Amino acid sequence: MRARLSTDFDRFRGELPRDFDDYVRQAYHIDLTARYLGYQLPHPFGKGSGQLSLNPEQLEADRAAGLAFVVLKTLIAETASGERSMSAWAIHETRMAVERRTGLNGRAGWTVTWKGRGWDRSLDEYLALVRTGRDLTRAGKDGMLVVPSVKYNLPRLGESFVEAEYVHTTAALADAWGEGQLPVEKDFSPTLAGDRLADERTQILHWIAEVPRRIRAASPNGARVQLKLMNARFDDEFQLEMVAAARDADGVTVFNRLFDSERRVAYGGWDLSDRNLRVLDARKARGPGPNGFSATGNICSGRLLLEYARLGCQSGQLHTFFQLPLGEYPATAGSRTARALHVLVFDPKDGIISGILDLEEQGAIHRHNGELRFLDVCSAASQP
Ligand SMILES: Cc1cc2nc3c(=O)[nH]c(=O)nc-3n(C[C@H](O)[C@H](O)[C@H](O)COP(=O)(O)O)c2cc1C
Repeated sequence: MRARLSTDFDRFRGELPRDFDDYVRQAYHIDLTARYLGYQLPHPFGKGSGQLSLNPEQLEADRAAGLAFVVLKTLIAETASGERSMSAWAIHETRMAVERRTGLNGRAGWTVTWKGRGWDRSLDEYLALVRTGRDLTRAGKDGMLVVPSVKYNLPRLGESFVEAEYVHTTAALADAWGEGQLPVEKDFSPTLAGDRLADERTQILHWIAEVPRRIRAASPNGARVQLKLMNARFDDEFQLEMVAAARDADGVTVFNRLFDSERRVAYGGWDLSDRNLRVLDARKARGPGPNGFSATGNICSGRLLLEYARLGCQSGQLHTFFQLPLGEYPATAGSRTARALHVLVFDPKDGIISGILDLEEQGAIHRHNGELRFLDVCSAASQP
């Protein structure tokens, strides 16, 4: 297996096999099936909401590369008359800087510095993108799961929710999505964590508990709600309280980037994954928690994704790793998504295949009918 992995890694530098998850199953007897928001995925690697999911061309390139799912850029909700209480998040900014960042653990990593925030075009333009995503989702194995992301009104302490934003925006998204429950990820972003709006712990917990119900109520066919939690500016214990408050969500994405309050920018790298993994480890020690974790934060190898999986995450959402300078990927051709998948899956040392074989050797997972299963890595997490 190990020798074959080295050969495949070299062989696929120019191009991955079509449906590489089928290939992995047949060649390595590893079932990479993963989950996000109740959807079955061919493998766990997806794209987090952001600047890489803004248009149909990006979606098509990701589908062609074999990505499992994409969360669209975050839309800022509005009322029927176009008012947006979170309009401070709808600012236009194009320049992104991909920078090296060394974590407090001394390991060199990457972060993307960017001053922008949410979707900065019209709701109608967003709905057109949702329709493209819906068609890709319905295409099944020939397509790819695509999920919208929204930032809705979050009231200050003592104020009530602006219901009209939930009602109008959700109904418009549900109409664009068509049949079936609307899947939606609700973003609590790092810039929100850095905003005065998020000074009050009780208010943050109130938002998290309330939001899923409000979105579902506003969607005619119902909705599946994934909450993407932020790294709040409080301690680890508060992160755990936020996760516990999300018990009514259909899934939880853990956790959006850290906020540098001096530079007023969000950042990632090793400090982000170290914090996220530390909090998830503490959560696991407390016994069964909410289902349907999706990981985000410095997923730069298959091995790191498996660290999140061992703490209960059934899929992973990457952003920074799809933005590295081309020379950083060992693949020699293809889109950045394809090059990233090549190393995430087939790297003989740090790829997901190698990591799963190691977990078998350590006795952490076992074969069923001759196969190892990615989801077994996650379910082992529910036994503290
Ligand atoms: C430039 C940039 C823009 C982003 N925009 C959004 C966004 O609009 N909504 C959101 O939920 N997350 C957003 N994110 C967060 C990413 O989806 C992801 O969760 C985060 O960057 C951690 O993953 P990474 O370490 O692989 O980058 C953005 C990240 C970057 C780098």
